[in-house]
Amino acid sequence: MSVVRLADYRPFPFRLERTDLTVRLFGEEALVESTLSLAPLAAGEPLVLRGEGLDLLSLGLDGRPVALDEIGRDGDAYILSSTPAQPFRLTSVVRLHPRANTSLEGLYASGGMVTTQCEAEGFRRITLHPDRPDVLSLFQVRIEAERGLFPVLLSNGNCIEQGILPALAGGEERHYAVWDDPFPKPSYLFALVAGVLEEVRDTFTTASGRTVQLRLHVEPGDAPYTAHAISSLKRSMAWDETVYGLEYDLDEYNIVAVRHFNMGAMENKSLNIFNSKLVLADAATATDAELERIESVIAHEYFHNWTGNRITCRDWFQLSLKEGLTVFRDQSFTADLHAPALKRIEDVAMLRNTQFREDAGPTAHPVQPDHYQAIDNFYTTTIYEKGAEVIRMLHTLLGPDTFMRGMAIYVQRHDGTAATCDDFVQAMQDAAAKAGDSDQSGTSEFCFDQFRRWYHQAGTPRLELQRHWDEDRGRLSLTIRQHTPATPGQPDKLPLVIPLAIGAVDQAGEPLLLQRPGETAASAEDASLEHSWGPLTRLLVIDQAEQTVVFEDFEPHSHPPALSVLRRFSAPVQLEFERTHAELLHLLSCDGEPLARWDAGQELLRQVVLCRAGGAADEALEDGLVAAFERILLEGTLSDGNRCALLTMPGLVELEAASAEPDPPALDLARRTLQTRFGEALAEPLAACLERCRPQWGLPWPEGVGDRQLTGLVWAWRAA
Ligand code: SER
Ligand code: ZN
Repeated sequence: MSVVRLADYRPFPFRLERTDLTVRLFGEEALVESTLSLAPLAAGEPLVLRGEGLDLLSLGLDGRPVALDEIGRDGDAYILSSTPAQPFRLTSVVRLHPRANTSLEGLYASGGMVTTQCEAEGFRRITLHPDRPDVLSLFQVRIEAERGLFPVLLSNGNCIEQGILPALAGGEERHYAVWDDPFPKPSYLFALVAGVLEEVRDTFTTASGRTVQLRLHVEPGDAPYTAHAISSLKRSMAWDETVYGLEYDLDEYNIVAVRHFNMGAMENKSLNIFNSKLVLADAATATDAELERIESVIAHEYFHNWTGNRITCRDWFQLSLKEGLTVFRDQSFTADLHAPALKRIEDVAMLRNTQFREDAGPTAHPVQPDHYQAIDNFYTTTIYEKGAEVIRMLHTLLGPDTFMRGMAIYVQRHDGTAATCDDFVQAMQDAAAKAGDSDQSGTSEFCFDQFRRWYHQAGTPRLELQRHWDEDRGRLSLTIRQHTPATPGQPDKLPLVIPLAIGAVDQAGEPLLLQRPGETAASAEDASLEHSWGPLTRLLVIDQAEQTVVFEDFEPHSHPPALSVLRRFSAPVQLEFERTHAELLHLLSCDGEPLARWDAGQELLRQVVLCRAGGAADEALEDGLVAAFERILLEGTLSDGNRCALLTMPGLVELEAASAEPDPPALDLARRTLQTRFGEALAEPLAACLERCRPQWGLPWPEGVGDRQLTGLVWAWRAA
């Protein structure tokens, strides 16, 4: 298979004004007639269209037939070496076999329905087309089909016409629908659905007062299970208006939910297609996790309307431009609506158990790769989740106000076009420059070019901290080293810009001010991050292979402060920081920032599990954990969800990664043994917890979620 390289990118030498399609569905086949309205942008360039598995019946240029043997072929490329110097129309007719299409890309039939999946390169299985994300055109689609078999005919945009057609000789009655999408889009966002579907309707009134028809199309019998999806969609629409100032742009928003859809969900312009499991929920049986997942995927696909559809990707190397940003947006949405600290903990646990593993293995690749063999293999946790972490770091470094101004610049500059990851960073850089001019606080100084390395270097950076406590002077110095291990094809790495959020906790569990040389107590307090980062958190910008940071003015001869580092997991790095069990237990007991507090516990839990898996047991540390867990179980102000997170064991993948010689059965056994130990030692407070949670068990989501989670943990420990 040949390799596609970013360095080979060339703009398409034609403008594609329109893609007009007529899709005729018959029993065993479909005929697709397409007219492409093209205009050359440069003289003498060949026209390269893509087609895969097409049965090309005819091709015409401005109404005159083109002999099929005049067309050059190279793989899936159809090459017309000479085309008119003026705008022209190219019409093709192809025959498809939707039932025989088992690739689940392009147009395929399954379970009596016809559906499409075009991202990334499925449109070329439907018709001859440039099929590149940087070629945006207006689409108008006419669908014709037998009315009985395909009563519902859907495509992107607004339905502008529908009607009855005469039956074919001896056949059933046929009908048609015409869909017009007023926004230019790349072909990967095209969608068509035909079949027997039930419709559930609702409406949403946008901030500017427009009414949007919301229509959810499900398989017969599924309508009773759609309320959660519809309300999730409305919450998403409202959130994007309030937080990003982005309003929905069409009169209709359609979601199709079918069981046979292969991808999880797809953001086709105004016609999202979902696998049913990410839409349908039975209030009586759906779990909290399912409800939250549905809400977040509905939101994710909706948010793509701006970050992905209105502004799309220039080429597939820019996939993270839409996916990283949209994941960041859906994570923020869930955090805003529910428990922000818990959401962050869940996302970090998932990152460590999936993306870190990818980064450490043979398929490690950067957020913006520079070559690929098959783009379908690039829908990875690195592109999605690490991509979201990169956006999050920009948000952290710039502060929310400057970040939002950067978003506004990005949208204003690139709306209606295909952009690159670098365009996004540039918009942020320009927002930061403006903020610098007006001396806005909250934006940290850092070099954007160096920050851009996050897009190009694969691998999880190691961040090593070493401290020196000068008790006579009450001075703490931290030496920080960063190093990114070699990954396939990238032996040497350069230092990155790493935002490191750090706080300090004294013996009594109170936050300590971190004062840099030259700062007064007041200016140090001013320079601290807002309170949601934990009390008195400082943000350090780490940008060298090794650097030393000093904090001073601590009480001389006092106990060294406990250091709460990488608060909120401010960067996707692997932390290497030797802290005593006592320090970590202290943080687990009283750190004011939930993520770092959880992480201190995770570090200790990793140690006890690994120790047991190795055939020994660190009894003292296990006793320390039991004591800390007891306090956590009784701590009045903690939410039950948070309580549960603090007691949850690290995942097996993480434990394997932390083992010198991973022994999965031994690790699993060690986890269970510890559950037994904790379950026995804490029988009483666990039973008390259960009683406290019991009244909340029946509360409808999102209420009672934490209580149910904690109940599950209590039972698991007691059962063990
Ligand atoms: N583009 C799709 C999504 O991420 C692929 O599943 O939403
Ligand atoms: Zn997506």
